[in-house]
Amino acid sequence: MVIALDGPAASGKGTLARLISDHYSFAYLDTGTLYRGVAWLVLKEGGDPADPALAAAAAQGYAIEKIAGADIRTKEVGAAASVVAANTAVRAALLDFQRRFSEKPPKGAKGAVLDGRDIGTVVCPDATVKFFVTASPEVRAHRRWLELVPARPGLEEAEIYQDLLERDARDAARDDAPMAAADDAELLDTTHLSIDAAFAAARRVIDGVF
Ligand code: C5P
Repeated sequence: MVIALDGPAASGKGTLARLISDHYSFAYLDTGTLYRGVAWLVLKEGGDPADPALAAAAAQGYAIEKIAGADIRTKEVGAAASVVAANTAVRAALLDFQRRFSEKPPKGAKGAVLDGRDIGTVVCPDATVKFFVTASPEVRAHRRWLELVPARPGLEEAEIYQDLLERDARDAARDDAPMAAADDAELLDTTHLSIDAAFAAARRVIDGVF
C-alpha cells in the first residue's frame, strides 16, 4: 500500500502525510528533506546550488547523518533545494532510496506514505492512492509565514509569497520530473479547509480504495 501526495510548497501535503501515516500506521517519507539536505550540503561548503557537478556530488554522497542537526527548513535552503532539484543527476541519485522506501517500508510497516512533487508521476507511478494537494498562493504563503516567523521576527509575508511563486514556477517548469498531478490523482484543494476537514476528505478517498 503506497499513498502518494504531491503539490506545491505549503499546500498542506506534509501535515496530511503525517496524519495519514499515524492513522494507518504507515511509514512516512518527506522527500523534500532529501533535496533540502543536498542543497544544505552544497551551501555549507559555500558552493553554488546551480553548479551541476557540485550538486550531483552532494546527492551521490548523501546520507541522513550528514545533515544531523542542520536547519534545513529555512527559506534559503528551500530555494536552493528547488535549484538542485532541477539537476537530473541529483534526481537520479535520490530515486532508488525513495523507491526502496515505498516498496519495503522500514520497521515492518504495512505501507508507505511519500510526499513531494513527482511521487505519483515518477517515484511511485503505481501508488495505491494519489493526491495532488493545492491551495491558493496567498493561503500557502500565510501558512509558511506562520511557521517561519517565530524564528525570524520581522520576516515579511510578501517575501515568502514571492519565494513560493518562484519556487513553484521552477518546480513546474523543469524538464526532469516537473511538479505535476498524475492523471489518476485526486485533487484536494485545502484553501478553505481546516486540517481536520482536509484529513477527513483524504480518509474518505483512502477508505474507499482499501
Ligand atoms: O517539499 P519541500 O518544500 O521540502 O521541497 C523542497 C524542494 O525540493 C521543492 O521546492 C522541490 O524543488 C524539491 N522536491 C522535488 N521533488 C520532490 C520533493 C521535493 O523536486 N519529490
